[in-house]
Amino acid sequence: SGYLAASANAAPAAVSVAENNSKLTILYGSQTGNSRGVATELANQAKAAGVAVNLVSMGDYNSRNLKQESLLAVVVSTQGEGEAPDDAIEFHKFLASKRAPKLDGVRYAVLSLGDSSYEFFCQTGKEFDERLAKLGAEPLLPRVDCDLDYQQASEVWQSEVIAAAKPLLAQSSHASAASPSVAFAGSEQQYSKQQPYTAEVIVSQKLTSRDSAKDTRHVEIDLGESGISYRPGDALGVYFNNDTALVESLLSAWQLDGDIVVTVGKESVSLQQALLEKKELTQLYPGLVKFWAEQSKAKALLAIIEDKTQTREFVRSHQVADLQQLYPLSNIDPQTLVDALRPLTPRLYSIASSQAEVDSEVHLTVGLVADERNGEIRYGGASRFLAHAEEGANVKVYVESNKHFRLPENPQTPVIMIGPGTGVAPFRAFMQQRANQGDAGKNWLFFGNPHFEQDFLYQTEWQQYLKSGVLSKISLAFSRDQQEKIYVQHRIQQQGAELWQWLQQGAHLYLCGDAERMAKDVQQALTDVVAEFGEMDHAAASEWLEQLRAAGRFQKDVY
Ligand code: 2AM
Repeated sequence: SGYLAASANAAPAAVSVAENNSKLTILYGSQTGNSRGVATELANQAKAAGVAVNLVSMGDYNSRNLKQESLLAVVVSTQGEGEAPDDAIEFHKFLASKRAPKLDGVRYAVLSLGDSSYEFFCQTGKEFDERLAKLGAEPLLPRVDCDLDYQQASEVWQSEVIAAAKPLLAQSSHASAASPSVAFAGSEQQYSKQQPYTAEVIVSQKLTSRDSAKDTRHVEIDLGESGISYRPGDALGVYFNNDTALVESLLSAWQLDGDIVVTVGKESVSLQQALLEKKELTQLYPGLVKFWAEQSKAKALLAIIEDKTQTREFVRSHQVADLQQLYPLSNIDPQTLVDALRPLTPRLYSIASSQAEVDSEVHLTVGLVADERNGEIRYGGASRFLAHAEEGANVKVYVESNKHFRLPENPQTPVIMIGPGTGVAPFRAFMQQRANQGDAGKNWLFFGNPHFEQDFLYQTEWQQYLKSGVLSKISLAFSRDQQEKIYVQHRIQQQGAELWQWLQQGAHLYLCGDAERMAKDVQQALTDVVAEFGEMDHAAASEWLEQLRAAGRFQKDVY
């Protein structure tokens, strides 16, 4: 199979063996970008402290370099029922295999990210820790397992790693300080998660029609003179404020005065401001449910926290306002309450524009989360903020670069894009880019949504691209326009022969959208297509797709 060598997204230049001895190698396995973010922070901190680093995704890491390492920092998350993130699968397997080398003399530190409402909390991190130890590597410091609110623990871990690494590296080589620039993933931006840019919303308009069951918005943000740059495939981190009406109604339910002063971190702010700007109200986490159960002593809630599966389900489908409605708290101390709430974290949106087309703007496709409960509507935090933003409203943003979702380097390489619902966002960016490139290869889009009439996002743009020939083919799956459901995976199956042909011509395959059901079903359909037209059994077809992924030709951005 020739495609292995044809990878356009080559790994960063391999660091030579001798160099690794004087470097801290930071390996990350990331699904949604959190581990990559932490690993990048560690790399930045280490560099600032004069420690040379090699930051690399496990998916790009050449495991043959492993035995030459002197210092390894591993940041990895855990998926679903204790599985490794996609880009970590191979390296994770390798460490448990007979091919794994002895690692005597290697020092390592592991930070695992996870969600304690899952049974296999931080499982992948635990396994990395065990496997490295078993191969003879020695821990630099004990493993740290983080829950959803990982920021603080991860910052402590980062400084401990650097403090422990510094004397060791200084000993091993003096040349390290003078060594040239490090292999470093992700473009360096002046603005970051820690230092976001205050941008302006210039457009927020509905894409779906009034009678649609969905409310999907097109949002345009002006990056002004910030100089912020991004590439198709990147995501925008968006800070938001909670809904004023929501905060008012909670304050009144708690019978608390919004002017009371509370402490958040090192800051003194009014309770009102803390709830509007500093704390999560629209997402729960297990710790808060536990807190609420203990405070309210509600039997039903106390039963829920005894069971991890129930806790997870509850966290997923409720907000703070639901907790208050179902298990009211009163006479609560405002500071205790504020301390129990999680810090508000920005949300990542796949960018829907290319700077080749929109210059200093950035566009998003935002699905407004709005669930009705007993006559009240529970909005999603960031989606409500963006959907209801007035023209000229401020929004704090930063770019989260994603080098695992990139157009092929060669503009002539054909591209297949699968993006139902808001999953279509990055493909609008891809098409803007390819349209501005000239001389571009073929492009094929799979899109799906409930109804053609109401939910055909960016319909006129796709029609223009089809007309001008930039888009070669569009396959549509409107799930509710007929008796039986039709989804993108059905179109994939129907178009199997041609899809296989495109893949044989070197096409890159992209998948964006819902991770829970859609991505799994699409993966299955793709496996079926490869098995049928590649004439192999299903295990071989799976492996074929895994090789395609490892070669950088099958990239996913699923959430
Ligand atoms: P539905 O809501 O009619 O079930 C974008 O959300 C589109 O994805 C909708 O048309 C939705 O259909 C569809 N969808 C729902 N579940 C899916 C699945 N498992 N695989 C693919 N598409 C799915």
